[in-house]
Amino acid sequence: MSEHTASIGLETKSFDADVLQPSVGNQGVDIRKLRPETGYVTFDPGFANTAMARSSITYIDGAAGQLLYRGYDIEAVAAGASFLEVAYLLLYGKLPNITELASWEADVSSHTMLNEEMRSFFDAFPRRAHPMAVLASATYAISTFYDVYRRPTRIQEIDAGARTLIAKMPTIAAWAYKKSIGEPYMYPNNEYSYVENFLHMMFSRPTEITPIDPAIVKALNVLLILHADHEMNCSTATVRSVGSSRANMFASVAAGMGALWGPLHGGANSAVIEMLQAIHDDPDATIESTLERAKDKDDDFKLMGFGHRVYTNYDPRAKAISTFAQEMLDRMDASDPLLDIARELEAAALEDDYFVERKLFPNVDFYSGIIFRALGFPERMFTVLFSIGRLPGWIAHWMEMNRDPDTRIMRPRQIYVGECARPYVPLEDR
Ligand code: SDX
Repeated sequence: MSEHTASIGLETKSFDADVLQPSVGNQGVDIRKLRPETGYVTFDPGFANTAMARSSITYIDGAAGQLLYRGYDIEAVAAGASFLEVAYLLLYGKLPNITELASWEADVSSHTMLNEEMRSFFDAFPRRAHPMAVLASATYAISTFYDVYRRPTRIQEIDAGARTLIAKMPTIAAWAYKKSIGEPYMYPNNEYSYVENFLHMMFSRPTEITPIDPAIVKALNVLLILHADHEMNCSTATVRSVGSSRANMFASVAAGMGALWGPLHGGANSAVIEMLQAIHDDPDATIESTLERAKDKDDDFKLMGFGHRVYTNYDPRAKAISTFAQEMLDRMDASDPLLDIARELEAAALEDDYFVERKLFPNVDFYSGIIFRALGFPERMFTVLFSIGRLPGWIAHWMEMNRDPDTRIMRPRQIYVGECARPYVPLEDR
């Protein structure tokens, strides 16, 4: 028995458990023997109090509003690194040196093209297809071109799969957008950096190359970094869950995209804009009436972009994005009435007992849509941008899960409250 133990008193017995020690943060009561030894299970909907694994990728101190990627503070990383540098950090646990970064960037850059047969894949979608549906489907689809990645056994194949997904995701995203506006697909130009290439494929046309604004490149690098990982969030837990059945990296990531799309998760960045636009367009809507709706238990309306399972303080990403949004708009000598409404909502909520008592603060999605709009992206692309950012985090967790000796196929238990065994009643007797 380790020197850290806990004893759980049950009705007729007690259960002695090891207490697992963290580098920092919550200790963990190891309940792996609870059911075999006592017949009891624990009940924890949403796994709000349950650790699904030991991980060394990202640490969040929800009370302090701190976020660390492999131990580095998010604000320092966002200020000093490129998105590909952060992707390398999350995947391999260390900041790359000059040679490693140059090799990584060149490797990614030389795999940005899609197999030409994928064109017909995009053509098969209706123009109105939501780009998240296209992104997840295309992520499954590109695995069909690489049998080796479907059943990776050697580390080289796993690294190649990670590089392939990271390299091709902006191309898939841009082609989904071009399809939705009826414009020709733009091929990647590997003279550009990763983010420049994405902007090129999104906003250039065969007839005219849209100049790449370095300020927008910098802003998008930071935004992708801020979205790159967030420990065991819903979509990452989904990637780990699907991967625990030995499903391949592509299938596991595509499943994570489905989870991220939900409006309570990454889909919130779109839902925030819809909420702000509705307030803007409704002459009868006020900040006060909006907050009242959010507090009304009979109204399923929530203040989108507010609240978080882990943060009981300001989400550091929301703080960074809020500042960025203002700087970008000031630089463009532009204003956005939705930003003004967002700021009024934030100020009012942070003084309202309901939000204060529940420690509800703006999260990463509250301001991200406003800056995505300012950078020229349409609302339907916001969760796609979140996916491009979160991709290295998903892959890092998939890799860690596959290396972890504790990993078992995800198969939770239940507390059954249905009918006990009863005799079948033939149709004529019912
Ligand atoms: C992301 O997990 C991650 O790390 C996610 C993420 C990442 O990087 O991967 O950070 C990205 O998904 C951010 C969250 C984006 N979603 C939203 O902005 C949607 C609005 N937020 C809520 O739906 C909610 O706050 C969640 C989903 C974010 C968190 O839900 P929880 O942890 O299950 O909390 P809860 O719903 O149990 O809320 C606790 C109380 C409840 O009131 P009471 O029952 O105590 O009276 O707070 C209330 C809730 O009704 N509440 C809200 C609210 N959020 C919580 N009330 C009004 N508006 C809200 N937004």
